[in-house]
Amino acid sequence: MKICFGYWSLLVFLLTNSVWGQRPRQRQKPGRPATTKKPSIPLPEPQEPTDFPPPILGPPSVFPDCPRECFCPPSYPNALYCENRNLRKVPTIPPRTHYLYLQNNYIHEVTAEPFNNASEVKWIDLGNNRIRTVDKQVFEKLPNLIYLYMERNLLKEVPSDLPVSLEQLRLSRNQISKIPPGAFSKMEHLVLLDLHHNKLSDSNLGKNIFKDLKNLMQLNLAHNILRKMPTNIPTSIFQLFLDRNNIEDIPKDYFKDFANLAFLRLNYNRLSDKGVPKKVFNVSTLLDLHLAHNRLTNVPMFNSHLEHLHLNNNDIERINGTELCPFNLSDDVNDENHLPKLRYLRLDGNHLRPPIPMDVIMCFRRLHSVVI
Ligand SMILES: *[C@@H]1O[C@H](CO)[C@@H](O)[C@H](O)[C@H]1NC(C)=O
Ligand SMILES: *[C@@H]1O[C@H](CO)[C@@H](O)[C@H](O)[C@H]1NC(C)=O
Ligand SMILES: *[C@@H]1O[C@H](CO)[C@@H](O)[C@H](O)[C@H]1NC(C)=O
Ligand SMILES: *[C@@H]1O[C@H](CO)[C@@H](O)[C@H](O)[C@H]1NC(C)=O
Repeated sequence: MKICFGYWSLLVFLLTNSVWGQRPRQRQKPGRPATTKKPSIPLPEPQEPTDFPPPILGPPSVFPDCPRECFCPPSYPNALYCENRNLRKVPTIPPRTHYLYLQNNYIHEVTAEPFNNASEVKWIDLGNNRIRTVDKQVFEKLPNLIYLYMERNLLKEVPSDLPVSLEQLRLSRNQISKIPPGAFSKMEHLVLLDLHHNKLSDSNLGKNIFKDLKNLMQLNLAHNILRKMPTNIPTSIFQLFLDRNNIEDIPKDYFKDFANLAFLRLNYNRLSDKGVPKKVFNVSTLLDLHLAHNRLTNVPMFNSHLEHLHLNNNDIERINGTELCPFNLSDDVNDENHLPKLRYLRLDGNHLRPPIPMDVIMCFRRLHSVVI
């Protein structure tokens, strides 16, 4: 049941039965190309290269160096569009190319040769192909590469010798179970690293593998097989996603040195009260905390700056606003700045029943929406 109330209009609850079993909205992943609607009867997936449909050739181009498999827009000479064309290999990339679109093809290997004259390339999308290997020499040809998207391929390890210029690296939905030592050691411009939906375990993440990523802001390790929190995450981190692993506990001072952490997701793990030290989430920068689908029996303590808290589908039996409240409820708090910032709270899927205890409402006066 979702209970909404405006600021301090305590008892004017809007009880809406229609939202029983409400599900959180699925967020669209950025960076994915819009795909065409799937036919209702899906075609069988081609297995062998010989099964692949023939490459689709583009229209004749005003650029003599435009590969026939691609489209070179006359008004945008820095872009090369070769996506959705049943390609088996990367065509020769013209030297004027900055933006290279190769997603949704059947490319199974990336070799250096097509990139011989491609030193200006800044952006490559190779998502949704069949790539198993990337030759080391490829990246020597690409000293200006900033974005590399290779999600939905068949990589078993993170490619080595990645360009140090990279700012975004997307490798989600591969089969990665290996990160070569030092793979990220010189990548101090990297801001986003997405490794979600792979096969990484604790032993695959060397102790210091992320340590040198001085500017990393987003790290996504969701949907792997981690049992422990990854070590030596750069303190610059802003978003840390670890959903759908097998994490059982969090070390006591794990978040202590993070000066920017605002979004933390740990949904679908194995966290119990025992594995969550009392003050571990008392992080003053944290705005959004996801702990749904774990095994918590108590509401963990959190900082007064937190705005969104997801605790649905745990084993919580009681919530005590007096204990959770970051200030003394019997003091008369009129200073707006001291009021806890919590606005959204999900508690459904636990052993709780409405109404929300009065001490919760008294303390968290900015609460706008509670799902219980
Ligand atoms: C690279 O460019 C140069 C001059 O623009 C050209 O002569 C050469 O054939 C190109 N090499 C490849 C592999 O396309
Ligand atoms: C939580 O952290 C704040 C600083 O952000 C600190 O003032 C407060 O005492 C901490 N609460 C507890 C219970 O440790
Ligand atoms: C909540 O906790 C406070 C302080 O520990 C206690 O005095 C109070 O009885 C508790 N409230 C409920 C409803 O258990
Ligand atoms: C809260 O305030 C009341 C009275 O103002 C006081 O008796 C009590 O000890 C205080 N509790 C804490 C935890 O500071």
